[in-house]
Amino acid sequence: MEIVLADYAGFCFGVKRALQMTHEASGRHNSLKSLGPLIHNPQVVEQLERQGVGVAHNTDEVQDDVVIIRSHGVSPDVLERLEGKAKATINATCPFVSRAQQLANRLTEEGYRTVVVGDKNHPEVIGIVGWTKGKAIVVETPEQAQGLDLHGEKVAVIAQTTQPEENFRAAVEILKKQKNDLVVHNTICHATRERQEAASRLARSVDLMVVVGGRNSANTKKLAKLCQATGTPTYHIEHAGELCAPWFQDIKRVGVTAGASTPEWIIEEVVEKMTDIKNEDINKEEMEQEGTA
Ligand code: F3S
Repeated sequence: MEIVLADYAGFCFGVKRALQMTHEASGRHNSLKSLGPLIHNPQVVEQLERQGVGVAHNTDEVQDDVVIIRSHGVSPDVLERLEGKAKATINATCPFVSRAQQLANRLTEEGYRTVVVGDKNHPEVIGIVGWTKGKAIVVETPEQAQGLDLHGEKVAVIAQTTQPEENFRAAVEILKKQKNDLVVHNTICHATRERQEAASRLARSVDLMVVVGGRNSANTKKLAKLCQATGTPTYHIEHAGELCAPWFQDIKRVGVTAGASTPEWIIEEVVEKMTDIKNEDINKEEMEQEGTA
């Protein structure tokens, strides 16, 4: 069985940057908390907690702590609330997310109704909507875009940075039918685009795909969905312990990819465990052949 690792699997630039800022800050501050889990990966969050980096689930849980804003970013009113409660704020919002926030803010000031293509419950999208003073409309699918009444308004459309390109494009096409002067800003980050394209490409060339990442990670779930859409059987796992030997029976080539919040060591453990499964299979085959010889 050949194991092929997808290009661009694992930590993206924004997550690496947020982790680095957190590690640097943990050496300098005693009471350090991220606002929400720093990244959508429970294993990494546990590791950070062992290093003394806590989690404040909302601003009410902040009391004179140094607070890290994670890569998803937050709305301006959260930043304001933190000013009165936190000792200091370290803003680790990914620059690509900041760009989408600033754009949403500017479009609102220019009188546009902004449509955000994304998951309405995702922290990044909640933050972006906050930068439009709550005026943005969120659509998750092209079908939802179809039902919007945008009559008499100037309309602009942007994307959650981790949206699959196809979903965004399909929503834009539908909105254009209603608004021929639609202003389009594709704010999908290049890391997401490259990772998703590489995962789909690999999925088409293997017998089985394994996608590694937190079950609470939206971008990992999207990767798994994209791989499934190619018709290749796909498993989404969080760690090596979830791999099952029967999945690999009669599999010649298996692909591995990982979400933006999956650390290198978890990917390595998964590949190692797969290699063990493969070797066990070879040993079994050899023993069977010896037995029949
Ligand atoms: Fe930033 Fe893109 Fe990662 S927006 S956090 S580099 S997935």
